[in-house]
Amino acid sequence: MLDAAFDHGVTWFDVAPSYGAGRAEAILAPFLAAHRNRVLVCSKVGLAPPRHNRLIRHIYDFGRPVAGLLQGLRRRFRAVSGTRNVRIPLTPELIETSIVGSLARLGTDHLDVYALHDPDPADLGRDEVIAALERVRARGLARHIGVAGSLEAATRAAAVPVFTVFQLADDPAIRPLPALRHLLDRPAGFVTHSVLGVAGARDRLVRRLTDDPRAWSTLAAAGWSGAPDDVAVRLLMRRAFESNADGVVLVSMFSPHHLAANVEIADRPPDSTVLRLLDELRLDRP
Ligand SMILES: NC(=O)c1ccc[n+]([C@@H]2O[C@H](COP(=O)([O-])OP(=O)(O)OC[C@H]3O[C@@H](n4cnc5c(N)ncnc54)[C@H](OP(=O)(O)O)[C@@H]3O)[C@@H](O)[C@H]2O)c1
Repeated sequence: MLDAAFDHGVTWFDVAPSYGAGRAEAILAPFLAAHRNRVLVCSKVGLAPPRHNRLIRHIYDFGRPVAGLLQGLRRRFRAVSGTRNVRIPLTPELIETSIVGSLARLGTDHLDVYALHDPDPADLGRDEVIAALERVRARGLARHIGVAGSLEAATRAAAVPVFTVFQLADDPAIRPLPALRHLLDRPAGFVTHSVLGVAGARDRLVRRLTDDPRAWSTLAAAGWSGAPDDVAVRLLMRRAFESNADGVVLVSMFSPHHLAANVEIADRPPDSTVLRLLDELRLDRP
């Protein structure tokens, strides 16, 4: 899948020490060795893999091949509390040693982005945390420092100059990027995720399309047609790329069919009518 993604033009790879029950960085390493100068990689600090790690790994090994067949399996798996990552207290030592471990597992000498992973927003005001991140960057271990977490964390980080990459869910009901851009007085990049999942956006949109004939006629008038679920996915995917047009949109996918569909959308020229359409559908309403 990594090679297929690269062949389709995907050049940003997002990992963390906690992803894949602790194995994502090592899984990425051989691919990275072959493509390091042509791809960008972000890893993070602050979350550890779930506590029942060995069991989770066995479940991943069993579940991954069949997950493509069993729609929703991964979503339900993530909802089980024992599979969730565990927050580690952020200390200067953790910040400076975790990246060394990540670089060793990834087999590279630098990250493009090193991000605090789902930090407590209060940690973003701590001088020793900021100083440790500055040292990591000054040593050349990471080209940019980021924050990957809540909107509240991103908002706090916007006031701290060391942070220049902001990774967060681009919830269509909240539309966080314009407000964040407004807060920033320096060049910065946005990395958005949870295109289909956040706050049930996909389910809400499907319900709106199924229950509200006016919503359907708004879309039909703009040339959209198809099954509600398919239309909802295409709309949300196009909205994600449109709303973060000069940034990075993360999408997780194992299905080659999803990869091809998403790349086709990513390659389209900008078209702000999708943002306007979703505004008209008022996804911020319950
Ligand atoms: N705190 C953080 O920093 C944070 C939090 C959440 C996520 N992330 C990052 O964001 C990445 C994306 O995760 P996400 O939670 O945002 O998930 P997502 O990309 O919104 O959704 C992934 C799911 O959507 C399906 N899918 C993808 N394209 C589709 C299409 N065209 N049609 C229908 N279904 C499609 C995939 O199915 P298949 O697998 O079957 O193809 C997969 O089940 C993660 O891997 C992670 O790197 C970061």
